[in-house]
Amino acid sequence: MDKVHVVFGSTTGMTEAVAGKIAEALGAQAFNVNAGDAAAFDAELLVLGTSTWGIGELQDDWAAQLDGVKSGFAGKKVAVFGLGDSVGFADSFCVAAETLANAAKDAGATLVGEVLKLDDTNESDKTDEKVAAWVETLKAAL
Ligand SMILES: Cc1cc2nc3c(=O)[nH]c(=O)nc-3n(C[C@H](O)[C@H](O)[C@H](O)COP(=O)(O)O)c2cc1C
Repeated sequence: MDKVHVVFGSTTGMTEAVAGKIAEALGAQAFNVNAGDAAAFDAELLVLGTSTWGIGELQDDWAAQLDGVKSGFAGKKVAVFGLGDSVGFADSFCVAAETLANAAKDAGATLVGEVLKLDDTNESDKTDEKVAAWVETLKAAL
């Protein structure tokens, strides 16, 4: 089994771009959840990424896939990151990332690290630094 997979859902590509950076930093493969590839969830540590849409809703591809894939979280380590807009959606900022983390926990995963919440809309200059620090905490858990 691979050590780490990054699995993301992304509507306009912003979460996908961050997933690529995280995967590169961890030497891992990144999978778009919209491909419905069961192999995506076959790793010791799953790094799951989602943006938030609607008002605090999961990204569409995650919303479509989560019920079908969450049994695959059991017994895995799971880390979660999210992208959102803390200015336009202050009251529902990155809620979908919490939703994903709770789903993983309820399915029997062990959560690793804090849920990383990124706002690439308003503070994209901070993303790389936050990602680098977060990735280090994940490496320590491997
Ligand atoms: C219609 C709409 C609804 C949104 N709702 C939220 C929200 O409730 N909470 C939040 O944090 N961000 C919200 N956002 C911001 C997106 O999550 C943000 O643009 C994100 O970076 C998109 O990432 P993606 O391209 O990977 O899907 C919303 C954006 C739009 C256009």
